[in-house]
Amino acid sequence: MQSRRRHAAAAVLSVTALLAFICVQAGLVAFPLRDTRSRSLLVPPRWLPLGLHAVRAGTATPASVGTEAVLLPGWEVIVLLRRPDAASAPADENVQNATCVFRGGASSPARALGPLPATGRHAYTCIMPEPARAHRHDAPLVLFPASTVGNAGDGASGRSPEMLKWSDRIVYESVVIVGGDVLVFAKGVNRRKKVNRAAADIRCLYYRADAGNAVASLPATTSAQQVFRCPPPPATTPVDLELRVTLAVVGEQPIPSLATYDLPRRRDSPPMSSHVTESTPSGKRLICACTMVRDVAKFLREWVVYHAAVGVDRFYVYDNGSEDDLVDQVRHLTSDGFEVFTMSWPWPKTLEAALSYSAAVHRDSCEWMVFIDVDEFLFSPHWVHSENPTKSMLHSITTVGEDIGQVSMWCADFGPSGQTAHPKEGVIQGYTCRRQIMERRKSLVRLGAVDRSLTNSVHYFLLQPGFRSKWNTRVRVNHYKYQAWDEFKVKFRRRASTYTVDWTNKKNPRSNDRTPGLGFEAVEPAGWPHRFCEVNDTLLRDVTRRWYGLGFGNKLGRRRIIGTTPGSSYNV
Ligand SMILES: *[C@@H]1O[C@H](CO)[C@@H](O)[C@H](O)[C@H]1NC(C)=O
Ligand SMILES: *[C@@H]1O[C@H](CO)[C@@H](O)[C@H](O)[C@H]1NC(C)=O
Ligand SMILES: *[C@@H]1O[C@H](CO)[C@@H](O)[C@H](O)[C@H]1NC(C)=O
Repeated sequence: MQSRRRHAAAAVLSVTALLAFICVQAGLVAFPLRDTRSRSLLVPPRWLPLGLHAVRAGTATPASVGTEAVLLPGWEVIVLLRRPDAASAPADENVQNATCVFRGGASSPARALGPLPATGRHAYTCIMPEPARAHRHDAPLVLFPASTVGNAGDGASGRSPEMLKWSDRIVYESVVIVGGDVLVFAKGVNRRKKVNRAAADIRCLYYRADAGNAVASLPATTSAQQVFRCPPPPATTPVDLELRVTLAVVGEQPIPSLATYDLPRRRDSPPMSSHVTESTPSGKRLICACTMVRDVAKFLREWVVYHAAVGVDRFYVYDNGSEDDLVDQVRHLTSDGFEVFTMSWPWPKTLEAALSYSAAVHRDSCEWMVFIDVDEFLFSPHWVHSENPTKSMLHSITTVGEDIGQVSMWCADFGPSGQTAHPKEGVIQGYTCRRQIMERRKSLVRLGAVDRSLTNSVHYFLLQPGFRSKWNTRVRVNHYKYQAWDEFKVKFRRRASTYTVDWTNKKNPRSNDRTPGLGFEAVEPAGWPHRFCEVNDTLLRDVTRRWYGLGFGNKLGRRRIIGTTPGSSYNV
C-alpha cells in the first residue's frame, strides 16, 4: 500500500517533469504574460459555471469567466474561480454539489474549500479522472447544477487557461498589507531553508489579466523562504484593470502565477468565511492565536474555550482542506461569543508561508500572536490554586520590556496516559502522564516586532533589529502529542507541517519530530497506552475540573460563558 503510493507519487513527478520539459522545449511554458489566447468558453447547456451568471455563453469577456487551476501531486487539482464578485458567490446548497469538468468531458466531484484569505476567490478541489490525465492539462471548469437550465450537456468543450503545475516554481498567493506593500508567495525561488536569493535579483511584475502585458516591473524589497515583499504598482495604474502579479528572477522567465493584485479598495469587506466577519474590531486584540488545522474540529471547542478563558482574545484557524464539521464547530463557537475566524489555505507544505502571511496580515488586529496547534495548551503551574480562569493569566506574559519581541516557552509532551480512545472528558483532562524532559519551544510573538522578511521556523520568528526574545519559564505549553493510538496515527499522517517528516517516511530518521521507538509501520506498537509516561502531571486536569467540572469541552464550558458579544468577558 505504502509503496504503491510512493510509486504513484514518483509517477506523478516524472509525468509532470516530462510535461514541463516538453513545454519548455516547445516554447509553451504556461506563462500568462505571453498567453494572449482567447479564453472565451462554450457553456454546456445543463450547467451554469460559476462566474458566468451575468454573461452569455461565448460572449464572456476574458476577465470575468471561468477558472484557473493548479495540479498537485496525486492528480489533485485546486481550482480557483476568478473574481470573487458578489454575483458569482455560490449559493450554499450549490457549493456542495459542484463538479470539475475537464477538457474532453471527463468529470469528477469538486469539494468546496471556501474562499482564499487574500482575495476571497473561491477554491475547490477535485481529483483529475483517469481519462483526463492523458490529455492536455487545461484547467477544468467548476460547474454547478443549474435547475433553471434544461437539457444535458456532455462536458466542457471551451478553452480554459492551461493548468499550472505545483511541481516546480509557482506564484500561488499575494496580499496587500498595511502600508501598501504586496506580499507575493512563491514556491521554488528560494530553494532551501536559509539560502535566500537577494531581493535585488527578483523583480515583481504586475500585468493585466486580460491582455497579459506587464504594467509595472519593480524590484522586490525582501526575499526569504517563500515570501517576497514587493512595492505596489505605481499609483498611475488605472484602477479598473484586473491586475495580476508574479515574480521573475533577473535574467529568467517570469514565474507562472495564480496570484492577483487586489486593490485595497476591493477588500472593504474582509474575505473571510461567510459565517464570520471581522466587522466590529474595536482596536487591536492583545493576544491572538493562529493555527493550521485539518480534520481536527472535534478538538476545537476545548482548545478555544480554554484559551479564551485564560487570555487569548481571538483565534485564526487556517484550514488545510478539512472534511469534517469544522464550519459547524466554528459557527457554534462564534454564536457563543468567541472570536474565531477560519480561512482556507490549501497550498501543500507551506506552513511557514502561512505563518508569515498570518503575522503580516493580522498585525493590525493583534498585538501578540501565539502560533500553536490544537493539541497544545498554554498553561502555568502557578495557576493551580486560582478559583477561576482570568484573561490576565496570559495577558501578564506580555508585560515585558518594549524591546521584547518574542516570548518563548517550553513544551511538555504528554503520552497516551493509559487511554485507548479519545477521552470523553477532553484532551486536557484525559491525558495526565508526560515525558519528563521539556523540549522544543513555542513562541508568543509581538507582531509589530517581526522582521520585514517574515522569516520563521514555525516555532520562532526572526525579529527586527532592536528586538530580542525572552524565555518565560512560568508558562509552558502542554502538548498532547502522543494521544490514544487511533488519534495519534491520524494526527501524524495528516500533520500540517513542512517541518515534520511523515513518520512513515524513512528519510531523516533522527528528526526531533520523529516519535522515539516507533518503526515505520502504521501498526499500534505494543504497550502504546503506557508509553511516554515518566511523570504524572494532573495539574491542568485538576484546575480545569475546578473551573469547568468534568468534561470541560462540552456544554458546561458553554454555559459558563457570560456575555454573547465577541470581546466580552468570559470570566465565570
Ligand atoms: C446536492 O446533492 C445532495 C446529495 O446528493 C442532494 O440531496 C441535494 O438536493 C443537491 N442539491 C442541489 C442544489 O442540487
Ligand atoms: C495539508 O495537508 C496535506 C495532506 O495531508 C499535506 O500534504 C500538506 O502539506 C498540508 N498543507 C500544509 C500547509 O501544511
Ligand atoms: C502515575 O500514577 C499512577 C496511579 O497513581 C501510578 O500507578 C503510576 O506508577 C504513576 N506513574 C509514574 C510515572 O509516576
